[in-house]
Amino acid sequence: MDTVTRFDPRISGLSQQVKDLHDPQLVYMAKARDVRAEYIDGALHLYRHEDILAVNKHPDVLGNGGRGGSFGHDGRLIPLEIDGPDHRKWRRVLDPMFSPKRVGLMEEQIRELARGILEGVRADGGGDLNDLLCTPLPCQTFLSLVGAPLEDLEFFLEFKEGIIHPKGETTEEIDANMAVAGGKLLEYFDTFLKEKRTRLDEYDDVIANLMRAEFDGEPINEFDLINVLFLLLFAGLDTVTASLSCILAWFGKNPDRRAELVTEPDLLRVAIEELVRFESPVPSGMRYPQTDIDLGDGLIVPADTQVNAFWAAANVDPTYHADPLRVDFHREKLSHMAFASGIHRCIGSHLARLELKVAVGETLRILPEYDLDLSALTYDNVAVRTATSIPVSV
Ligand code: HEM
Repeated sequence: MDTVTRFDPRISGLSQQVKDLHDPQLVYMAKARDVRAEYIDGALHLYRHEDILAVNKHPDVLGNGGRGGSFGHDGRLIPLEIDGPDHRKWRRVLDPMFSPKRVGLMEEQIRELARGILEGVRADGGGDLNDLLCTPLPCQTFLSLVGAPLEDLEFFLEFKEGIIHPKGETTEEIDANMAVAGGKLLEYFDTFLKEKRTRLDEYDDVIANLMRAEFDGEPINEFDLINVLFLLLFAGLDTVTASLSCILAWFGKNPDRRAELVTEPDLLRVAIEELVRFESPVPSGMRYPQTDIDLGDGLIVPADTQVNAFWAAANVDPTYHADPLRVDFHREKLSHMAFASGIHRCIGSHLARLELKVAVGETLRILPEYDLDLSALTYDNVAVRTATSIPVSV
């Protein structure tokens, strides 16, 4: 372990500055426009699209795990915290399991689930869309895709809360609380995976396919399997919930813009892409250059620097995006970094886009004029930006 203190984005100055802001985009845009790059708590924060792209493309840059495990878990999470040939090997196995074709098979199932929930909300005259739709829909979809039991939904939700939104004021407290949540998952999987192996032929899901997969003629060992599932579960359970919550809150705050989409549903695909860019639910990620990188105009990132690549600032960077604070349903340049970029780009982006398209499309169809109680709308912007409460009446 090196002697440099590990930067912890969850308690850093910038996270704390924006932690419950409704419009952190204003802060992020100013950072990209006026600051470009700065050290905060020992980590070099990069705010511009082109700078982050150059770092992500550089062959001598390690990803999130460059300085060791960062999620209160002893093993390295696969593939987020590994690099090089090992990382490529894992992506070759995992990518097809989340390809557009594979996740596309779930479209009708997601639509039916969304319809059932939203018709219930309409019949009840409203409710909190975060609790009723944004949390259960992505979680049920994801558990069914990976092959984890739906009846254990509450257990998995508790796990992802404990990992993504752990309680605590210091890195030590936060890590200790995460480790408790992680420990419960390891215990759960110990029994669950053993049982699943005995009836493997019955299943065609991510867990079963990983159990059948081989590297160089050898099956994947239990430790690696758990390190993949640990990551997939919290990455897949929380991020779509968070994105959907931000998007539905945005439409609640902008009813005229919502009306545009209700009249012209063909704009939905670009609208979702724009809202994912604008909301950037995963604000930043760590990168670790192994060599000096010259970003031009006097900005050199020295080797061994901890870099906090701020996707959320890059996504509203006025030196790259025209009129970045406008959510433009006709924007042509859609190259944002909400799903990161480079070798660690998100595996789940096709699934996320599909779920968002279906859930938002059905919401606009079934509840086209929902009225959001703005005084009760709250956000949590640390680690993953979420609209934690979206009470609506219809
Ligand atoms: C809108 C929803 C989502 C957003 C905004 C999002 C965002 C991201 C970001 C920014 C990264 C890069 C992390 C880093 O290197 O620092 C990432 C990686 C990853 N995401 Fe997502 N994600 C979403 C949905 C999902 C889903 C549904 C899954 C489940 C399959 C998933 C699985 C992963 C995995 C496994 C990685 C690691 C990839 C690697 O390191 O090679 N994500 N995601």
